Amino acid sequence: MVFLKYPSYLTYFFAATAAILGVSLLSDRLRSDHLMAIPRVVIDNLTWTRAIRQSSIDDHQYQVQIFSKDPLIMAIHPFITNDEIAHLLHVSENNFTTSLVYGGEESRFDPNKRISESAILSHDDPVVLRVEQRAKNFQGWRGNRTVIQRPTLQRYQVGGFFDYHYDWEPKRTSGNRITTFMVYLVADCEGGGTNFPYLTRPNGTEWCNIIECTEDGMDGFQGVTFKPRTGSAIFWENFYPNGSGHEGVYHAGLPVKSGVKVGLNIWSWDFSWRSDTAEADNADLPVN
Ligand SMILES: *[C@@H]1O[C@H](CO)[C@@H](O)[C@H](O)[C@H]1NC(C)=O
Ligand SMILES: *[C@@H]1O[C@H](CO)[C@@H](O)[C@H](O)[C@H]1NC(C)=O
Ligand SMILES: *[C@@H]1O[C@H](CO)[C@@H](O)[C@H](O)[C@H]1NC(C)=O
Ligand SMILES: *[C@@H]1O[C@H](CO)[C@@H](O)[C@H](O)[C@H]1NC(C)=O
Ligand SMILES: *[C@@H]1O[C@H](CO)[C@@H](O)[C@H](O)[C@H]1NC(C)=O
Repeated sequence: MVFLKYPSYLTYFFAATAAILGVSLLSDRLRSDHLMAIPRVVIDNLTWTRAIRQSSIDDHQYQVQIFSKDPLIMAIHPFITNDEIAHLLHVSENNFTTSLVYGGEESRFDPNKRISESAILSHDDPVVLRVEQRAKNFQGWRGNRTVIQRPTLQRYQVGGFFDYHYDWEPKRTSGNRITTFMVYLVADCEGGGTNFPYLTRPNGTEWCNIIECTEDGMDGFQGVTFKPRTGSAIFWENFYPNGSGHEGVYHAGLPVKSGVKVGLNIWSWDFSWRSDTAEADNADLPVN
């Protein structure tokens, strides 16, 4: 198995599918009482949460720092509590299966691209719902057609990795994965950072608790590598405002050299997203 230290050309990846900027962070609006019940929609065997209203206020406190404005990338700490982590690991312990990649028509195991195990979480779990709601609140009001996909745990043992890819689905012209939260649940590992080869590493030491700052830490990889930190999250937008994918968010899960890493992906899907080349009024998917 050869792990590419330089990005191969556009390793598109469907399951990890894409974001519309230009939405102000009106999180108060999401906190208001018109938000409660979680209708569900099943499309292509995937279930989306549509948090129309919210049953309780999430009082979890965290700090947020903007790492990059273009693409928008933020560091959040702690995004998830130790109790929530323990719960998610417990309820999913028997649900991990080999992670697949989606290159075209069908998914397959490809050890040159991805070695990990995945467990998709159920929307029915109250802790999952709370974390989903936190992810939704964080993003502010993004229109009534943006939903949280079922969050997915990814477990990486020694040698586990995920080659460079984008999180959006490249072939779509209508509806796509607009944002990503990469949440680190278990970070008892060496290696396993999240590498963005096209980002520029900031000078100075201010970010060194969040990103790799030494040549040893960079391990020959280019750009910026976020270090797994238990409980923290990296959030990013996948698209430019015009619907064009942002090449800056090309990324990989670097190989775990020792220990284990468990990440939690929380992706938001916007049915209103249109590609920058889409016809004015494309065929659309139903929301309900
Ligand atoms: C949905 O699941 C069914 C049964 O597992 C399968 O036959 C079908 O191909 C799946 N459809 C898609 C779009 O993945
Ligand atoms: C794990 O899988 C079982 C059986 O498919 C399912 O009932 C359960 O809801 C899953 N657990 C989670 C946390 O999704
Ligand atoms: C969602 O928003 C669109 C456009 O802003 C509006 O036309 C539509 O009525 C809204 N739907 C619901 C269910 O609120
Ligand atoms: C970082 O330092 C290099 C070399 O000293 C300099 O060329 C570059 O402009 C600096 N970048 C930033 C963002 O300050
Ligand atoms: C969309 O915006 C990006 C970034 O500004 C730009 O590179 C791209 O050409 C735009 N797409 C179109 C179709 O204008």
